[in-house]
Amino acid sequence: MTQTGVFLTFEGIDGSGKSTQARLLAEHLRASGHQVVLTREPGGSPGAEEIRNLVLQGDPDRWSAETEILLFTAARRDHLERTIEPALAEGKIVICDRFADSTRMYQGLSRGNLRGLVDRLHNLMIGREPDMTLLIDMDPATGLSRAKGRQGAEERFEDFGPALQQQMRAGFLALADEFSDRFRIVDGNRDMDSVSQDVTQIVTEALQQTVHE
Ligand code: ADP
Ligand code: TYD
Repeated sequence: MTQTGVFLTFEGIDGSGKSTQARLLAEHLRASGHQVVLTREPGGSPGAEEIRNLVLQGDPDRWSAETEILLFTAARRDHLERTIEPALAEGKIVICDRFADSTRMYQGLSRGNLRGLVDRLHNLMIGREPDMTLLIDMDPATGLSRAKGRQGAEERFEDFGPALQQQMRAGFLALADEFSDRFRIVDGNRDMDSVSQDVTQIVTEALQQTVHE
């Protein structure tokens, strides 16, 4: 018998607290007895992690938006085949830090309107959406200063600057409206524990509903 797991994603601008909240949620659900796979994009499988280095390091103009769409989608396909789908087939909860909504935003909006291209390639090669997406909404200036505070080599997108962060925030809010059945918006401009309490409550209620359906 095949079981079906639950696929949860976190989205939001750089520095909004997605990785922190994904980790806290995974810890909470594991402590409650769930089997959880915590993963991220770009990456989440050995091949996709290699592509991650190609897309996140180097000059901001290293790749065109079109080439990026192909690279992020290639990474996602490998991640889906090797990590996400096997875990869901075993009935696990998969928590993913970013997924296709990030491509809809960063590649679909930041350098002209390529959303149609992103969606066509997504339908062709990925063809699935998360069961629930938690959007950590955040003031762009605070997000950027938190992200910059991390100091690493993966700064290609952060190097695009505050205007991009502002555009991405507005874009994510519009996307939440477009896919209102699966999106939940959480106010990220608070301390970690308050944000985490909201996230836990939303997910716990959703999991109870899944069980009772
Ligand atoms: P993202 O994955 O969205 O880029 P992170 O979870 O990596 O964000 O957080 C970015 C930085 O901000 C990290 O140093 C993290 O410890 C810190 N941080 C995360 N959430 C909060 C919060 N609610 N308040 C203050 N700092 C936070
Ligand atoms: P991530 O490691 O989540 O960075 P952060 O923790 O700063 O949010 O993602 C790295 C960058 O990759 C981020 O700036 C957004 C970008 N990105 C895309 O442009 N397209 C995508 O499809 C994904 C998944 C990420």
